[in-house]
Amino acid sequence: MLIEELEAALAAAREGIARAAGLDELKELRLAYLGKKGTITQVLRGMGALPADQRPEVGQRVNEAREAIEALLAERTAEMEEKALDQRLAAEVVDVTLPGRPAPRGHEHPLQQVRDRLEDIFLGLGFEVAEGPEVEVDLYNFELLNIPKDHPARDMQDSLFITDEILLRTHTSPVQVRYMHARQEAARTLGRDPLPVRIIAPGWVYRNDPADASHSPMFYQMEGLVIDRGITMGDLKGTLLEFARRLYGADVNIRLRPSYFPFTEPSAEVDVSCAVCGGSGCKVCKQTGWVEILGAGMVHPNVLRNGGYDPEEVSGFAFGLGIDRIAMQVYGVEDIRNFFENDLRFLRQF
Ligand code: DAH
Repeated sequence: MLIEELEAALAAAREGIARAAGLDELKELRLAYLGKKGTITQVLRGMGALPADQRPEVGQRVNEAREAIEALLAERTAEMEEKALDQRLAAEVVDVTLPGRPAPRGHEHPLQQVRDRLEDIFLGLGFEVAEGPEVEVDLYNFELLNIPKDHPARDMQDSLFITDEILLRTHTSPVQVRYMHARQEAARTLGRDPLPVRIIAPGWVYRNDPADASHSPMFYQMEGLVIDRGITMGDLKGTLLEFARRLYGADVNIRLRPSYFPFTEPSAEVDVSCAVCGGSGCKVCKQTGWVEILGAGMVHPNVLRNGGYDPEEVSGFAFGLGIDRIAMQVYGVEDIRNFFENDLRFLRQF
């Protein structure tokens, strides 16, 4: 009796396993035959009722049946897993010959491009690039530049103060005295010559100005400073003329108008003849033929002294220009805010 049941179960298992459509079904079949309540297990349990002399034979047949089912299950499981893997490999195949998706490529911001151009020009004239902090102390931003605490010239640069003594620098001029101090220090400790000084100092500056078409609370300046024995206003004018010609073209001219800055004496506003109309008058130069490009002057003796230089022995000139302003002129941009809005429709044009 039991043997027949066993044979029938084995035959059914064989067929079921052969027909199984997936791994889940195989798992169910394993439970159905070999699980705690499975058919084969039941047969094993039924052995207790057999006469003792039949038990070994039946026991052996049960074991054989179990092993046969295990083997069949293992075989089909392996078969199915292999098939599944093949299918996945086929489905997930990567065509390495397809052209890649190009990553969109940016380019330098127009202000950075103009800064690079200005730096190139001045490096070509023998200048070096110096830098200073954007968070500055009152001492360097004002006092050492001959602008004492209650000096009315402070009104020209409405400032963003962090404490009474610390502010966001309102111009790049503090780099002048910072650099002088660094050169004097190098002279003292390393025996270097503190002359000549020939630097430009580009960087961000900040003022408490509401933004409009020609003002931004943050803008870009470039300072220039030259100190040596025998530097004259002629050197100033020659250097700035050469700069203007390299930037705007060989036929432009410059003119100096008297002005006032506390850290230079004498001081001048420097205009360049309009590169758009050639000086005959147009919208860019507001019909004057001239465009203001920077402020400049001979370094004030107090500033030289504050930097550790003897104004009896050396002299120098300085200038400060607005990189944003020059970029606006060079590119014909009418609103400074365009540079800071990060609108790609604007930036892509440069
Ligand atoms: N620091 C001045 C400003 O921001 C610009 C300037 C004028 C710098 C004349 C100079 C200079 O070095 O000589 O308004």
